[in-house]
Amino acid sequence: MKYKKKKLVIENFKASVLANKYSTPLYCYSYKKLKENIDNFKKSFNEINPLICFSVKSNSNKTLLSEICKLGLGADVVSIGELMRALKAGISPNRIVFSGVGKTSQEIDFAVKKKILLINAESKSEVLEIEKISKKNKKITNIGIRLNPNTDAKTLRQISTGKRENKFGVSEKIFLSLVNYIKKSKNLKLKCLSVHIGSQILENEPYEKMLKVLEKLLKKTKHNFEYIDLGGGMGINYEDKKKQLNLKRYCLNIKKFLKKYNSKIIFEPGRSIIGNCGYLISKIIYIKETDKKEFIILDAAMNDLMRPALYSAQHRIIPLIKNSKKSKKIYEFVGPICESTDKFLTKKNFQELNEKDFIAICDVGAYGMSLSSNYNLRPKAAELLIKKSKVQIINKRQSLKDLI
Ligand code: LLP
Repeated sequence: MKYKKKKLVIENFKASVLANKYSTPLYCYSYKKLKENIDNFKKSFNEINPLICFSVKSNSNKTLLSEICKLGLGADVVSIGELMRALKAGISPNRIVFSGVGKTSQEIDFAVKKKILLINAESKSEVLEIEKISKKNKKITNIGIRLNPNTDAKTLRQISTGKRENKFGVSEKIFLSLVNYIKKSKNLKLKCLSVHIGSQILENEPYEKMLKVLEKLLKKTKHNFEYIDLGGGMGINYEDKKKQLNLKRYCLNIKKFLKKYNSKIIFEPGRSIIGNCGYLISKIIYIKETDKKEFIILDAAMNDLMRPALYSAQHRIIPLIKNSKKSKKIYEFVGPICESTDKFLTKKNFQELNEKDFIAICDVGAYGMSLSSNYNLRPKAAELLIKKSKVQIINKRQSLKDLI
């Protein structure tokens, strides 16, 4: 977070100037941070030279995707919409992987025709459907099978995906039977073993356990997988004090793993690439006093940023213009939506705030705008990209006319 003369700056722009000019609620992304994150990710894993497929669900803005593409990443998609958007942003089909438990025939047909790098299948029925559609199209489709490694990601329950009770992937037993089935198919080519154990992972241990499960399974399959897709999930620091995942250590674990298997690694990171690039700027509409606390009623709400309401996620809130007066009150930052979970953060010792002041909610680049909705019939926020000396509107504010 950078302040110049007490004013928050994003790259070289004063956030308060942007807020006045483009109105609020307003998503602002920093290109510099995005590039830094991608460079850092590549550097951390350079010894294993992975294919990095950005997880489009974390942020599907078309301009951001094309910037991410220019910085050398492919895409991980989970719907025909995301696939079309990734293609439109310039990402080549041979750098796109398609995951998800419920791909429809229409989605599979489109992916087969586009000849994307991999369709990662998550059930026997899906494998049969991909085979049927490939046959109809007279194509041989490259597929992966997603394993459910029954590994605890040690993250929030709601964003864990690798335990037996989760709907994702297949068990070891089914995996082995699918390997045998696909090997005999004329229209399928088995290229990949994929896993993804969860999101916002901040410890190395779950990944280490996951690699051990893969090793055991690979011994049994005796199949040479061209790709091992390890998914995403690398966590970021939403609060200063939180622990940090050690990417270098993860890379060394994978390097060791690859000594026995000569496969190309695929990653599907979302949050670790775009999470800390985004701010949600909002204006204080009213301040409502009660006996115990003051409600800071913002013009941003849970429809703009769902994570706090959905997962009790805590995003830091900072002022756009600093003052040196500390408030003695407890502030509760809330939105205008008619739900008590429309609440962002409760904070003591914040600086004194006034109606019409601006604040920024931090680290909202991932699963911010992509999870937004029109709940309470509120138009979606505008999005800006700050790149060097340029401010670009990369998504216009939804108009009431369009909405109504
Ligand atoms: N690959 C697959 C198959 C996934 O399901 C996901 C995320 C990713 C990759 C990217 O994970 P990341 O690197 O971003 O952690 N809405 C939640 C997160 C849901 C994640 C869903 N899957 C949140 O706001 O925390």
